[in-house]
Amino acid sequence: MDPSLLRVEDLTVRFSRRGMPELTAVKAVNLELAQGEALGVVGESGSGKSTLARAIVSIQRLTSGTVEIDGHDLSRYKRVPLHLRRKVQMVFQDPASSLDPRQRVGSAVEEPLTVHSLLERSERKARVAEILQMVGLNEHHAARFPHELSGGQRQRVAIARALAVSPQLIVCDEAVSALDVSVQAQIINLLIKLQDQLGLGLIFIAHDLTVVRHLAHRVAVMHQGRIVETGPTAQVYDHPQHPYTMALLSAVLPAHPDDRLPDRIMLNADVGELDEPTERTPIGGCAFRSSCWRWKENGEHAICATTEPQLDEISAHHLHACHFPTAKAILPAGGQ
Ligand SMILES: Nc1ncnc2c1ncn2[C@@H]1O[C@H](COP(=O)(O)OP(=O)(O)OP(=O)(O)O)[C@@H](O)[C@H]1O
Ligand code: SF4
Ligand SMILES: [Mg+2]
Repeated sequence: MDPSLLRVEDLTVRFSRRGMPELTAVKAVNLELAQGEALGVVGESGSGKSTLARAIVSIQRLTSGTVEIDGHDLSRYKRVPLHLRRKVQMVFQDPASSLDPRQRVGSAVEEPLTVHSLLERSERKARVAEILQMVGLNEHHAARFPHELSGGQRQRVAIARALAVSPQLIVCDEAVSALDVSVQAQIINLLIKLQDQLGLGLIFIAHDLTVVRHLAHRVAVMHQGRIVETGPTAQVYDHPQHPYTMALLSAVLPAHPDDRLPDRIMLNADVGELDEPTERTPIGGCAFRSSCWRWKENGEHAICATTEPQLDEISAHHLHACHFPTAKAILPAGGQ
């Protein structure tokens, strides 16, 4: 696969907050994505997934670092030119709010073609029909308003709008999270089909780790703005190495008899229910240590408190950031 569709280097996004220290929402993230590849991004609420996504599609200003799409460094522009902007499109969680309630579906799908000055007016209708068909809708839907569609159909329209400008990369931020499970499966299958047909790169952000497993070739696990583990999806899901990934997975997947994962590893706050962190950058060391059972197993070793672990390869293309990489040797209390 061509590794150069997306290259993110050292991406950091900080937010200033009135009367409070700056918040580092994304910290020194590196990513690569090939054409036709799907990357799942998981992590609990507030871990920086959406901020990373928004930075990649140029709707969030970077504090530092670079985002390169198809060889073009988008981060060097204050306002990214349209011909580069259309290479990467985003699909949001709630299509009801991303679609104009007064705009018919056909017109909503045609709009990006007009904005980007693609095709003659006479050709646009045919293109809209073609795109609607690609996402499993038809000309009858073109005449409807968003409120006349189901949630799944509205998300298909949002995907059609993203596809209209022939992007190379689509970033889906919780794109199926608001849908019923059966509808989620339909949209996931649609994304897989489109990706196959069009050779699209896909970044798929989800709370639901089981959804990501179906769709992503690779997965990146985010904790407090950093990627703490990344690798081929099957490898990460079947042999998680970082204590945080193990905790996330143990919350949703049944323990595998061979992998020695405990039934459920509890974090200090339950996964997905963290309050807004007040202090995201403990002075030095690993940001996960207050929840880390492996740290405790290692006698609260000083290195976890003094030195931030860097991503390190533990097997082919599988990296994690932990000073104690031998996950199998050290289990939390209650593990097998
Ligand atoms: N515009 C902003 N100004 C200040 N802080 C922000 C802003 N956007 C996000 N944040 C903060 O940055 C952190 C990361 O937020 P982000 O939305 O990226 O998390 P997330 O992983 O997408 O969470 P969720 O799963 O709940 O969608 C959070 O603490 C959030 O409050
Ligand atoms: S570096 Fe230390 S605190 Fe961080 S995950 Fe590894 S063992 Fe836990
Ligand atoms: Mg989010």
